[in-house]
Amino acid sequence: MAKLINGKEVSAAVKQRVKTETEKIISEKGVTPGLAVIIVGDDPASRVYVNSKKKACAEVGFKSFEYAMPKETKQEELLELVNKLNNDSEVNGILCQLPLPKHINENAVINAISAEKDVDAFHPFNVGKIMIGEFSFLPCTPAGVMELIDSTGTEISGKNCVVIGRSNIVGKPMAMLLLHRSGTVTICHSKTQNLAEICRNADILVAAVGKANFVTADMVKDGAVVIDVGMNRLENGKLCGDVDFENVEKKVSFITPVPGGVGPMTIAMLMQNTLTAAKMQNNI
Ligand code: GUN
Repeated sequence: MAKLINGKEVSAAVKQRVKTETEKIISEKGVTPGLAVIIVGDDPASRVYVNSKKKACAEVGFKSFEYAMPKETKQEELLELVNKLNNDSEVNGILCQLPLPKHINENAVINAISAEKDVDAFHPFNVGKIMIGEFSFLPCTPAGVMELIDSTGTEISGKNCVVIGRSNIVGKPMAMLLLHRSGTVTICHSKTQNLAEICRNADILVAAVGKANFVTADMVKDGAVVIDVGMNRLENGKLCGDVDFENVEKKVSFITPVPGGVGPMTIAMLMQNTLTAAKMQNNI
């Protein structure tokens, strides 16, 4: 029977660290970190994420600024807002919630966010820095996964690490962070042959597929550490991950639940990045 990795507990510890440091820079330097969150359109999942991000800002003592724009917003209008926020000294971090409506080019918006305020670490400059292992910001979800793996006391160096999924937000940066810690990393995706066999070889398995119950018990090694990044809404409204939790849990040593695993970590790491941004911009 696996031990549950409690994302709520680990994220609470990260947020507490951020809160303590925030109190210090407010009192000693008069700097209050500020995060601007942009949401375009009315995607219900995006609305939930944005609300959670604003709530976390209040918890750690940051200012937050929400910009809710209608789904018809033109790309130029969004770029104008980003430009305004780039030049606003009260705003240390800028996050534009993805996905954006189809008529807006996401890359154009990501590229427009000043690299120093890019707390998602999506800007090509920050992506490049992650690649060479010399980063200011780590991408929030992969960084949160690393914290969760570390909370189990598992050594990553030399281990077989398998990441399922190759998105720019999770799969690719996840593989890079594991590689920086000397994992032997394999990235699997929709065209991978023998996917189950590759997964069975994983000491650390990270699932970021976006398909409910994709990882079944026959695909995991006994005693593996399994991290489930998936967040799938079933027809009955229930949230579930990419891993068939009930059956996989019996075989592995550690596993994250959904919800309450990776989700809260993403937000905690965003708080950490925003604090880093505020410190960098104020030479602290
Ligand atoms: N949409 C889903 N995940 C994320 C994220 O981490 N950041 C942003 N900006 N949008 C997202």
